[in-house]
Amino acid sequence: MNIKKAEFVISNTDVKKCPQDGKPEYAFIGRSNVGKSSLINMLTGKKGLAMTSSTPGKTQLINHFLINDEWYLVDLPGYGYAQRGKDGRQKIQEIIDRYLDEREALTCLFVLLDCRHEPQKIDLEFIRLLGESGIPFALVFTKTDKISQSKLKENISVYKAKLLETWEILPPIFYTSSEHKKGREEVLEYIEKINKSLDEY
Ligand code: GTP
Ligand code: MG
Repeated sequence: MNIKKAEFVISNTDVKKCPQDGKPEYAFIGRSNVGKSSLINMLTGKKGLAMTSSTPGKTQLINHFLINDEWYLVDLPGYGYAQRGKDGRQKIQEIIDRYLDEREALTCLFVLLDCRHEPQKIDLEFIRLLGESGIPFALVFTKTDKISQSKLKENISVYKAKLLETWEILPPIFYTSSEHKKGREEVLEYIEKINKSLDEY
């Protein structure tokens, strides 16, 4: 897919104030520092579009970016960031929960996982809850430039085996490096395919 236009629209803590134009949206979620904002910049080819930081906890709001005047990419705050303290974590969790519960325009949620780590409880629990609430999602393994191909292969197969303990089929899985612009076409084609299927109705 060709990204002709990518523009920041609005930041919110309140899901009710998010754009109400009914355009489909694709949101990025995962632990703090996993690379959500970087991935949005890589996909759109606009380096400073979403704010990134090497310090976790950078994104604290629901951020809407309008793509080609047709659909949204949404950058969400990360979950489970310990340094925020209990109150801070709870506040962020409420923003995320309400967004996931109430946002009808949410078409697919991309759950980002750092490919260097073995399956983490917090991510597995989050994925389990998505299944329970029937939210369509895909998995994205990020930062693939940071490990060798063989280690990547090993980590992915461990992850898949873990998921297959509770899931009958695996969700769509993408492998990305925002540093090396890897996985860009795959993610964008997936979004395009869904957008086209929505157009048929
Ligand atoms: P929060 O907003 O804090 O939840 O984090 P985030 O998930 O949006 O992460 P962000 O995109 O800000 O990236 C965190 C750090 O990881 C930054 O220092 C990025 O440069 C780095 N990073 C993100 N993606 C990649 C990648 O694919 N490869 C490498 N090497 N570094 C990456
Ligand atoms: Mg961020």
